[in-house]
Amino acid sequence: MTDQRFPHRHLLGIQGLGPQEITAILDLADGYVDQNRSIDKRKSLLRGRTLVNLFFENSTRTRTSFELAGKRLGADVINMQTQASSVAKGETLIDTAMTLNAMHLDALVVRHPDSGAVKLLSEKVNCAVINGGDGSHEHPTQALLDALTIRRHKGRLAGLTVAICGDVVHSRVARSNIYLLNTMGAQVRLIGPKTLMPTAVDRMGVDVYHDMRKGLDGVDVVMMLRIQNERMKGNFIPSIREYFHFFGLDREKLAMAKPDAVIMHPGPMNRGVEIDSDVADDVERSLIREQVEMGVAVRMACLDLLTRNIPNQVAV
Ligand code: NCD
Repeated sequence: MTDQRFPHRHLLGIQGLGPQEITAILDLADGYVDQNRSIDKRKSLLRGRTLVNLFFENSTRTRTSFELAGKRLGADVINMQTQASSVAKGETLIDTAMTLNAMHLDALVVRHPDSGAVKLLSEKVNCAVINGGDGSHEHPTQALLDALTIRRHKGRLAGLTVAICGDVVHSRVARSNIYLLNTMGAQVRLIGPKTLMPTAVDRMGVDVYHDMRKGLDGVDVVMMLRIQNERMKGNFIPSIREYFHFFGLDREKLAMAKPDAVIMHPGPMNRGVEIDSDVADDVERSLIREQVEMGVAVRMACLDLLTRNIPNQVAV
């Protein structure tokens, strides 16, 4: 794989990636996990390259792990935190693109509250663009880090049953995971109230459950999602207490899953809303901390692969 080129200029989503491309990213990331666990974490692969993290939305994990990933590969990393402006989004993004082009970047990570905004920007800039989450559309590196976490624990993705539970309709994490897991031959179950399911759910190649106990029966992986209040316009759940009662992951509901089922959550967690601390902190079953570790390695692999495609000579 080392000399292989990634046949895409940008990483905007999981949709459109084939199983070999996904496997190539995960294999490369496995190597970066080892490097990150060693004393000398630094490589000079991206020396002289500039990575900009452009975040129009809050982020802890994604931004810091892209920053670490870039620095560990030797790149110069700049973080730009911008509040989504109230002026027409298209115009703002085009102006932003002009500014970024003038800075001669090599790679740009963008997070934006509007679905499709990252793609729009990618059409206007000269560098490789990675989607760090656009609205409720996609969050490809999260799905890749989830896949790496699962693969390292279960030895495979194909043939596993993965339950994705909670606020699916607002979740870019769910959407990217559904694409990835379907592409890799895993079976996906979505669990949640009807109000939190996307309207097109019957065309997503998943099984839908509104009863969490039934949905968790015999699954290998339980992936919980945050209730995304900031994306809700109106009342989607009656009350937090009732939501936790029916759809919060606790010991009793977890007992329906396979005895060796693992627990995941992309973070940030709402403890006591979608997940009980007792299971979130269970060192035997919860992979939540490890997901963060895998995030750095996966982002190093993505930066490595995408920057192989960009020329060394800059066009002026
Ligand atoms: C997710 C996101 O921002 O989409 N978080 C993350 O990247 N770790 C999920 C969330 O915000 O709930």
